[in-house]
Amino acid sequence: MTDSAPPAVETTIAGVRSRLDAARSAGSTSALVPTMGSLHDGHLALVERAREIADVVIVSIFVNPMQFGPSEDFEKYPRDVDADRDALIGHGVTAVFAPEVDEIYPSGAVQIRVTAGAAGERFEGRSRPGHFDGMLTVVAKLLGIVQPHLAVFGEKDAQQVYLVQRMVRDLDIRTRIEVVETVRADDGLALSSRNQFLGERQRRAARAIPDALEAAQSAADRGLDAVIAAAQGVLMGADGVELDYFAVVRPDTFQPVDDDHRGPARALIAARVGETRLIDTELLHIG
Ligand code: PAF
Repeated sequence: MTDSAPPAVETTIAGVRSRLDAARSAGSTSALVPTMGSLHDGHLALVERAREIADVVIVSIFVNPMQFGPSEDFEKYPRDVDADRDALIGHGVTAVFAPEVDEIYPSGAVQIRVTAGAAGERFEGRSRPGHFDGMLTVVAKLLGIVQPHLAVFGEKDAQQVYLVQRMVRDLDIRTRIEVVETVRADDGLALSSRNQFLGERQRRAARAIPDALEAAQSAADRGLDAVIAAAQGVLMGADGVELDYFAVVRPDTFQPVDDDHRGPARALIAARVGETRLIDTELLHIG
């Protein structure tokens, strides 16, 4: 592959495995960047990190039906593998793994699945029942298919990252999980494939989400109550933003922090702007 050509696309498990087997026998390290496509600069930051730490980089593109609820946007989720492949030109990606649904789920729904447990029922899990079981099951399958040394995830999906790290630990999966900081647009909005659904006014309204996190960050040295008041002050005044939850959790357990918590904490926001559901997060140090 020359770096100016688009990466090869593998659509079968056998194809991607044989590519990886060859690389492994040559002593190369490998990294997987799991995605659902519609790649943006946030994904490219994951790819860049993968390239820094591994010889072979595989980007998977698979819109996983198992992690969408019946009333969610599975059908509407943007898909354009050719555009994604072009976006990866020059980023040192060895191959794209872009299977069809029946390559991953040949007999329909899987019988054996990974369950996220209690930590998967809060926050995103409460708004999206079954989402994390579906996400963990497909990540376990992708890790089983590719067997990479490393897999790279974005910090924005903080509960996803926590659960994937937990799964890898609890199930003794050998892959190391690498986390890359959220990439933001100039207006502060975290990059997300769903941002393209926002109209101009909605996009302006959505700025309240990063603004609330910034307000929470500025209030962090005054304690948890100040953090909550600061974030809610921004979110309550934001026209067109329907808050789903604002929460502050312990990064090590993803449990809500105690009222007198001091130290590292993660602020989480989920909100609906029009039809589009957005999430964002920031690491705080509550003083
Ligand atoms: O974050 C995503 O895009 C998806 O949840 C993932 C990790 C690719 C699994 O489908």
